[in-house]
Amino acid sequence: MTSQNEQLAQIGVVGLAVMGSNLARNFASRGHTVAVYNRSPEKTRTLIADHGSEGDFLPSETVEDFVASLERPRKAIIMVQAGKATDAVINQLADAMDDGDIIIDGGNALFTDTIRREKEMRERNRHFVGAGISGGEEGALTGPSIMPGGPKESWETLGPLLESIAAVVDGTPCVTHIGPDGAGHFVKMVHNGIEYADMQVIGEAYQLLRFGAGMEPAEIADVFAEWNKGDLDSYLIEITAEVLRQVDAETGKPLVDVILDAAGQKGTGRWTVKEALDLGVPTTGIGEAVFARALSSSLDQRAAAKGKLPTGALKTFEDLGLSKEEFIEDVRLALYASKLVAYSQGFDEIQAGSDEHDWGVDPRDLATIWRGGCIIRAKFLNRIVEAYDNDSDLPSLLLDPYFNGELKDLIDPWRKVVLYATQLGLPAPVFTSSLAYYDSLRAERLPAAIVQGQRDFFGAHTYKRIDKEGTFHTLWSGDRSEIEV
Ligand code: ATR
Repeated sequence: MTSQNEQLAQIGVVGLAVMGSNLARNFASRGHTVAVYNRSPEKTRTLIADHGSEGDFLPSETVEDFVASLERPRKAIIMVQAGKATDAVINQLADAMDDGDIIIDGGNALFTDTIRREKEMRERNRHFVGAGISGGEEGALTGPSIMPGGPKESWETLGPLLESIAAVVDGTPCVTHIGPDGAGHFVKMVHNGIEYADMQVIGEAYQLLRFGAGMEPAEIADVFAEWNKGDLDSYLIEITAEVLRQVDAETGKPLVDVILDAAGQKGTGRWTVKEALDLGVPTTGIGEAVFARALSSSLDQRAAAKGKLPTGALKTFEDLGLSKEEFIEDVRLALYASKLVAYSQGFDEIQAGSDEHDWGVDPRDLATIWRGGCIIRAKFLNRIVEAYDNDSDLPSLLLDPYFNGELKDLIDPWRKVVLYATQLGLPAPVFTSSLAYYDSLRAERLPAAIVQGQRDFFGAHTYKRIDKEGTFHTLWSGDRSEIEV
């Protein structure tokens, strides 16, 4: 499609399903010439037919033509199905490219795949950038939050291009170089994990208002719209209000009542938790959110258990003896507290991952680029930026003076809501487990001393003492004296 006389493209996009097409259109709308290629040419033709007039596109029907239509160093973003397809396309591009050209994977790749691919490409003198892109279809088109990893040199070339298409908050584009090799995909993974927890806590708040206080979806939509004006101001709260207001055209019922209550998942939440387990970071909020989706989708088991398990003596909302307004406010504060814990845990995982892989991820930069474009964008992230501005080595976000001050006001309502949920028999796994995490973190003593005693008893696993150095074992099956080992 191109000859030497023709214009070359500053950037190329491979894979023209919705995300890829929208990203290509975003580049074109910012004045870049964009090379586009898709395995099946129909998608390329459709993009050009439907949106070709929006900017300068250079369509190709072979990888070789596509690569030839790119300005050097060539820069191509891959937006294909994660997994084998990504490897296939990377290799096709690498074969057609030259030394120093840059291949960017904008899909949701597992960060360990990205580490492997970056190494393979480095050995072939190609630059490989695994970039997390968040914002869904709309964000890809109008301004996503972008989390590129890979070699720092690639960022020098790629940075201005990505900055031109990213969301912008207070004049700052929502993109920055996250760190080497898999760093970008790692933080995107944890971003998605946090998203799972954030969605779940909103769901738990809905559940309490709906089946605790007996409110109708439209009324709850108004409550959420109101919440969206305060500390909870965020994209997810905003869209939840929209979902709750939606009426099903076919039945005239609230849409939420006709949607099957079985949540799907594509895997990034699960990856976040698996990785947290390996790193030994207690991301309990994200874990509960992933398990909540799994439980919701266990439809056969749920059907078998429905109405069959004893409930004990449940209370009604009236029994709680508080006004609807008080309840709504307590739920709002419990949501805020649980959300704070989920973010704090997510940032802990990022810190642990960064330490493990020596990535040098700056949590402040990350909070900055999550303020716009991505699904977890929220006013609250400004506070996280300030927290890391004040102390870049914060041991936990919960210990930041601002959040610590907030927690003074949140803790009592949070405890009450966990109690209400239990008394009403309504599941609130993230509200509940986040409070348990919080109480564990601040505890003077944990039952881990008992666990250590048990481990020493049955397996001679030894223990340490609080009052002196060394490792000890009690001769449990002997005279029960203690020895130093
Ligand atoms: P969506 O869910 O939005 O459709 P996806 O499934 O993540 O997106 O990705 C689909 C894209 O991956 C398509 O562009 C698809 O190309 P086709 O239109 O030809 O199917 C691309 N894709 C999938 N497997 C591929 C492969 N092995 N080689 C090249 N492209 C591939």
